[in-house]
Amino acid sequence: MPLETNAPVAVTLRPHPRAVEGDRDEVSRASMPTTGPLLDRYGRVHDDLRISVTDRCNLRCVYCMPDVGMTFLPQNALLSFDEIVRVAGVAASLGVTALRLTGGEPLVRKGLVSLISRLSGVGFRDLSLTTNGMLLTPLAASLADAGLTRVNVSCDSLRDDRFTSIRRRGNLATVLASMDAAEAAGLSPLKVNVVILRGVNDDEILNFAAFARDTGRVVRFIEFMPLDAQGQWDKTQLVAGREVFERVSQQWPLEAIEPGGSAPAERFRFADGHGEIGLISSVTQPFCGTCNRLRLTSDGAFRNCLFSDDELSVREVIRGGGGDAEIAELLRRSVWAKFPGHAINEPDFLRPTRSMSMIGG
Ligand code: 5AD
Ligand code: SF4
Repeated sequence: MPLETNAPVAVTLRPHPRAVEGDRDEVSRASMPTTGPLLDRYGRVHDDLRISVTDRCNLRCVYCMPDVGMTFLPQNALLSFDEIVRVAGVAASLGVTALRLTGGEPLVRKGLVSLISRLSGVGFRDLSLTTNGMLLTPLAASLADAGLTRVNVSCDSLRDDRFTSIRRRGNLATVLASMDAAEAAGLSPLKVNVVILRGVNDDEILNFAAFARDTGRVVRFIEFMPLDAQGQWDKTQLVAGREVFERVSQQWPLEAIEPGGSAPAERFRFADGHGEIGLISSVTQPFCGTCNRLRLTSDGAFRNCLFSDDELSVREVIRGGGGDAEIAELLRRSVWAKFPGHAINEPDFLRPTRSMSMIGG
């Protein structure tokens, strides 16, 4: 059971037999597969792509952005919808079956419903969206009609005043209403993302567990990660998933749900049958060993890990006249270059230079 220790889990991946040890900058591509699924040098198959459609946001959560002074990309730096659909099509042809749109806040990008509709036409088993919920209510039904399958809504407090102090803008009532609207539109199961910060909202862990029990929504407790634009992350603010588990299970016993795939959340059901929670312990219990994720940043770069600055610009390939074969090659290279795991817990860890709102969650 991963929850038995506080120590980070060592990543013990061995190189895939087809891999050749290359140096970091010039990853040997001699044995990179040119057909079949998106395989990395450690045998991990990548079938989950997250696309950040904008780095902009209508909120300023304390763990993500400063209150003032953010600068955002100019419109022409973002991939156009045509470019996004094209990359998604190539990804699907290489075995990507799950697509999630993220931001920033994806719903601040105009025309998102039409993008969902086009992406739905590409054909993904799972087409989802992570949103802060502020703009979701009026769009929920048309997003569902366009082919969206489900949404994750972020919400870090169930108290009005505190919600606004953490997110600096917006309000709790709108976000709660957006969850109802999403469910009414059939966007379910609904997941609620909660970033727990020591001394800020860690006294609400049981309230959120009760919320999961009462509503049937899957509340996912996320550890604070070193991806804030201010660069202020430190471990004193982090509340480990293990602590959340202990606090919740003292009140309501929990049972582990067997992992069904590569999901980063450790899932638990309440033993009395009332609902489910998830723990996303990216820092204290890295799940790199089963990572199947790839990211496309808002300015069009493939990024193979949240915590690695290695990026390959597909925007340059496309705008330079590259064809689908070149896009596919870049995607394969990005996956092939992926390291076995992040080094947040190592003394020489370097924080990523780009923050969550640029990379996408
Ligand atoms: N640490 C942990 N989670 C974060 N998110 C944004 N920034 C951070 C951070 N520094 C979360 C958001 C959202 C998801 C995309 O990532 O709350 O739920
Ligand atoms: Fe916006 Fe999400 Fe960042 Fe909050 S965490 S500021 S909602 S992008």
